[in-house]
Amino acid sequence: MRISCNNLKKAYSGLHAVNGVSISAEESRITCIIGRSGAGKSTLIRLLSLLERADEGEVMYDGARVDDLKQKEILTMRRSMGMIFQLFNLFSSRNVLKNVLYPLEIAKVPKKEAVEKAMALLDTVGLADKAHNSISSLSGGQKQRVAIARALVLNPKVLFCDEATSALDPQSTKEILQLIKSIQRKLNLTVVMVTHQMEVVKSVCDYLVVMDNGRVIEEGDAQKHFANPESDILAGFLRNLMIADADMNSPDGRRIGGV
Ligand SMILES: Nc1ncnc2c1ncn2[C@@H]1O[C@H](COP(=O)(O)OP(=O)(O)O)[C@@H](O)[C@H]1O
Ligand SMILES: [Mg+2]
Repeated sequence: MRISCNNLKKAYSGLHAVNGVSISAEESRITCIIGRSGAGKSTLIRLLSLLERADEGEVMYDGARVDDLKQKEILTMRRSMGMIFQLFNLFSSRNVLKNVLYPLEIAKVPKKEAVEKAMALLDTVGLADKAHNSISSLSGGQKQRVAIARALVLNPKVLFCDEATSALDPQSTKEILQLIKSIQRKLNLTVVMVTHQMEVVKSVCDYLVVMDNGRVIEEGDAQKHFANPESDILAGFLRNLMIADADMNSPDGRRIGGV
């Protein structure tokens, strides 16, 4: 599913968090939105995923306007998308399997079918053997795997990720990104990923959007823009990444490996 928007604006008590954004996230591609803290990335992804309504502008799925739908239709529409967050947003009172079952319960899928589906997803993310564990017994990377399984259990066409790896160590970040990429290919998902981590963008991004001050300041084919950044912001992100890489390769630095 192609996700696009036209001149989106959202202000919070006079502050323009998103200030006239028009972008298009193509089907079956990974679109990354990068920018500094406060750039408006999370606000934009909330608008695109219909968690919040914009003050102005339009959101389109496959070219059809969706932001002006009735709340009930939006709830139905939201079933065709999965979402994962920095802090996982899991239910600590439910075990691993029951977290993944949750969307199926809401959708009133019969129990047996639901358990089969949830277990298949837990298998995909490599956690089938942890189905009956408590959430608190898991590492950060494992928690994000549960969140990914839960996000995908209703067969969405789109996966929205807001800083999905920002709370993880470098090794877990690498593994989660590999997982997202392999799932994206396998399921032909459209992925819209918001991050402030250049290493994330570098490893998975097809189409790059750079935001600053609520606006898009640069966008295009990721490889082209990595080779020739237009904005100071992107150039700065790339420079910091090079410095971090050099540190990791230094004699006393541990080589963690390019993500
Ligand atoms: N719910 C909200 N209420 C008030 N201000 C908000 C809210 N959400 C975001 N903002 C403000 O909007 C700006 C953009 O925030 P956000 O979209 O979270 O940026 P990013 O995700 O790029 O760090 C920030 O100045 C932030 O403080
Ligand atoms: Mg954010």
